[in-house]
Amino acid sequence: MLQDKDRIFTNIYGMHDRTLKGAQARGHWDGTANIIKKGRDWIIDEMKASGLRGRGGAGFPTGLKWSFMPKESDGRPSYLVVNADESEPGTCKDREIMRHDPHTLIEGCLIASFAMNANACYIYIRGEYIREKEALQAAIDEAYEAGLVGKNAAKSGWDFDIYLHHGAGAYICGEETALLESLEGKKGMPRMKPPFPAGAGLYGCPTTVNNVESIAVVPTILRRGGEWFAGFGRPNNAGTKLFAISGHVNNPCVVEEAMSISFEELIDKHCGGIRGGWDNLKAVIPGGSSVPMVPGKPMRAATMDFDYLRNELQSGLGTAAVIVMDQNTDIIKAIWRLAKFYKHESCGQCTPCREGTGWMMRVMDRLVKGDAEPHEIDMLLDVTKQVEGHTICALGDAAAWPIQGLIRHFRDEIEDRIAHKRKGRPAVAAE
Ligand code: NAI
Ligand code: SF4
Repeated sequence: MLQDKDRIFTNIYGMHDRTLKGAQARGHWDGTANIIKKGRDWIIDEMKASGLRGRGGAGFPTGLKWSFMPKESDGRPSYLVVNADESEPGTCKDREIMRHDPHTLIEGCLIASFAMNANACYIYIRGEYIREKEALQAAIDEAYEAGLVGKNAAKSGWDFDIYLHHGAGAYICGEETALLESLEGKKGMPRMKPPFPAGAGLYGCPTTVNNVESIAVVPTILRRGGEWFAGFGRPNNAGTKLFAISGHVNNPCVVEEAMSISFEELIDKHCGGIRGGWDNLKAVIPGGSSVPMVPGKPMRAATMDFDYLRNELQSGLGTAAVIVMDQNTDIIKAIWRLAKFYKHESCGQCTPCREGTGWMMRVMDRLVKGDAEPHEIDMLLDVTKQVEGHTICALGDAAAWPIQGLIRHFRDEIEDRIAHKRKGRPAVAAE
């Protein structure tokens, strides 16, 4: 279990003072100018050495992403954009950083922007995050007043401005290129990649888009050293990580832990165990709804990191939003609800996603009531395969995977429901 002394987020429960004074007392903004004076190459090398992989879900190596940014300006400005549009079902970790530890994010923005030759940073915050926006804006204002951002930020010699942009509540604006479109004042629709944002991002300029948590850990990594961070977890799965655990545990929470902690330890130590005990565990979505679920038994022994969940359980760590479901869960209905969500949030730009999410939801509508033909299960699976990998952005995959997981692991339950309905017995109704 992670020791208190190794926690980066010292105020995620909001027990301490989140203002600049409190943040400084907890070690934030300490020696920021000295870090910057070590130079861009040193910062990027340390980030690479830390092994940090993006905390927004995809797990792309952060230091490597930064190294794609041009070292010399070709006349275009460079930008850092922080993705604070946290909307993945089950995911509520960045919210805690912005509410209770906003200064570590702002300090991270300054250092990361300097490393990428960016004099401006935009934080795009989710429309529903009202209190978080207020807390973050208050912290930005404090930082300006204290000279920590603005001209000669933190006496580093670097001029740096930071802007908070409030989204309007569309899930798709969390996709990095849709976010950039939205920031430019357009409809939030994903762009084709490549080009990746480092080549042509905000206003066609070199841009790096990073998740809140990825940026908020930067100052501590650089103060303590990349090697220190790499010492947690295991190779290729390094560091500490915020886990957001919801559902049928005794104590749902957001907690910082070492990567590669076992699922059992995570749940027993921080969540007071599974509601009704371990035998009552039915299934887990380990990383936010856009990764496939895992049935309870293999999940109990799982190692919570990118590689184990992908390679051993055909799932993923995603945003580490762990959704726990006990035996009382109507698993078909739970996945039907996700299908409804993705149908609603599809931007409609590409046919397989626009039409496929509608198809998937309509078949799920019938399956949840047991009101389907048995062959429709395979037909549904076939539709998910036609959506997966055939769309502009990952929303199509995200809509397909939970349904594939349902059919893979709980086909019996779907078949039972159909058989049950045919005998004239009532089944659960979709709302
Ligand atoms: P991705 O794998 O396409 O990209 C990840 C990052 O690496 C991006 O910033 C991308 O620009 C960069 N990248 C990837 N390949 C690159 C290359 N060859 N050259 C330069 N840069 C490269 O994944 P994507 O579509 O950005 O994110 C999908 C993930 O987002 C899902 O796994 C899901 O878990 C997560 N997600 C998170 C949400 C949240 O609320 N935090 C909401 C919805 C999805
Ligand atoms: Fe829009 Fe869906 Fe296509 Fe993504 S996959 S661009 S959300 S229609």
